[in-house]
Amino acid sequence: MKKILVTGAEGQLGNTFKEKVESSKDQWVFCGRKEFDITDSKVMATFLKDKQFDYCINCAAYTNVVKAELEVDQAYAINVEAVKKLVHLCNQNQITLIHISTDYVFNGNKKTPYLESDVTAPLNQYGKSKLFGEQEIQQNSRAFYIVRTSWLYSKTLGKNFYNSILSKAKKGESLYVVDDQIGTPTNVDHLAAFIMRLISKKPPKGLYHFSDEKIMSWFDLAIKILKEHQLDNTVNPIATSESGVVRPHYSPIFSKKKF
Ligand SMILES: NC(=O)c1ccc[n+]([C@@H]2O[C@H](COP(=O)([O-])OP(=O)(O)OC[C@H]3O[C@@H](n4cnc5c(N)ncnc54)[C@H](OP(=O)(O)O)[C@@H]3O)[C@@H](O)[C@H]2O)c1
Repeated sequence: MKKILVTGAEGQLGNTFKEKVESSKDQWVFCGRKEFDITDSKVMATFLKDKQFDYCINCAAYTNVVKAELEVDQAYAINVEAVKKLVHLCNQNQITLIHISTDYVFNGNKKTPYLESDVTAPLNQYGKSKLFGEQEIQQNSRAFYIVRTSWLYSKTLGKNFYNSILSKAKKGESLYVVDDQIGTPTNVDHLAAFIMRLISKKPPKGLYHFSDEKIMSWFDLAIKILKEHQLDNTVNPIATSESGVVRPHYSPIFSKKKF
């Protein structure tokens, strides 16, 4: 039996694990920001002492792409400095760190899906902070998996693109959705299952991409969601606003590392 700590357990991915592990033979411990603030080394060290975790799945992150442009220090404190602290404590306690990263580490200039071997070049502060976090792990962790994923959505939990389109459509609202950003939407259930497979199959440590590997725009995804629910609202394609945060126009991620 393995002992697994999930940080950021109140977020979309953290909460997904809570539902998925009910029949797991392993022992899962879930911590939100209150019990396990990843910016606080002292709190983390005390919590980890003598507990003998095998894995720590770090679902805690600063994830607001728009706000990160203004709250750069806060984004870096969580996505870079806190990750550095977590790496150190995982090393000290012989814990394998499983960390989640993003397609936003790429600039979107490629014409084919990004693979693990592709060069990174983030366009915005969120992407930069996530890349620096990855680099802390790559350089200092003794045992890690970094899982880059993209366009996460849940059909059941919280506020995300899927639920927001569905709720607007059900109210009969007109929908305006960008069609000039292309990516690989990923059901958070599938990501959680992938991470559980990493733990059970133990492929070589390192960097992995995981997405649902179906390339589409947000507009295409909106149409798909409506079809799934037999709704016939009109979806109007729009262009990404020039004034907002810069995002990659093309960031599908695929993996060459099958196991
Ligand atoms: N969502 C996406 O589309 C997407 C795409 C690619 C990659 N990812 C990555 O996937 C991972 C999981 O994303 P998600 O969608 O589950 O994000 P989420 O719903 O925003 O969850 C992140 C959680 O981290 C918590 N947190 C923030 N600072 C913390 C701290 N100092 N200590 C402990 N917990 C803290 C947040 O709590 P508060 O609410 O209190 O801040 C929140 O509960 C992240 O690493 C993200 O970068 C997400």
